[in-house]
Amino acid sequence: MAFKIGILISGNGSNMVNIVEACKKKTLTSTVEIVICNNPKAKGIKKAEYLDIETKIIPNKNLSTDDFEEKIINSFKEKNVDLICLAGFMKILSKKFFNKWKKHVINIHPSLLPSFKGLNAQKQAFLYGVKYTGCTVHFVDENLDSGKIIGQEVVKISQKDTLQSITRKILKKEHILYINAIRYLEGSIKL
Ligand code: GRF
Repeated sequence: MAFKIGILISGNGSNMVNIVEACKKKTLTSTVEIVICNNPKAKGIKKAEYLDIETKIIPNKNLSTDDFEEKIINSFKEKNVDLICLAGFMKILSKKFFNKWKKHVINIHPSLLPSFKGLNAQKQAFLYGVKYTGCTVHFVDENLDSGKIIGQEVVKISQKDTLQSITRKILKKEHILYINAIRYLEGSIKL
């Protein structure tokens, strides 16, 4: 099944670019209809524009959660989006959002959930001293990094690794995993 994807970002947007490119290259049968960003200064906005993807900035700063989420839902509905991909989106969506939005919402998180939820997951894992970390794509609900897991990729941490090298290795795996997770939802592969 091909999805009409809507992507939510707040920052750099490398996962978003990766998904857009996979759609353009037909690695995915889905298409990216719109990228919405809550941070007007995010680098990802220009990247989406450069890729010729419709972008919308909806800053959450002066809006209530209800109004902010209503605007997001309306924008996605206007574009007939049926799969929302969070890609470095730094806001937790509320229970009300999921009462109104019944279709899939998925997220990528830079740790092997359920370990190291929340911010700076790579740093949490590094400081904890785990020997393996990685990334997870999961369904999103109103709780933090807690929905059903779709897929995971593992990164081995060696003694030579620094936080920067681990973060880089995880991001590389994220780009592979996110595409495979969407392909799995499309019904093209098994995970
Ligand atoms: C990634 O590490 C992702 O796992 C996390 O936020 C980061 C976003 O990176 N949720 P980018 O904006 O896609 O480059």
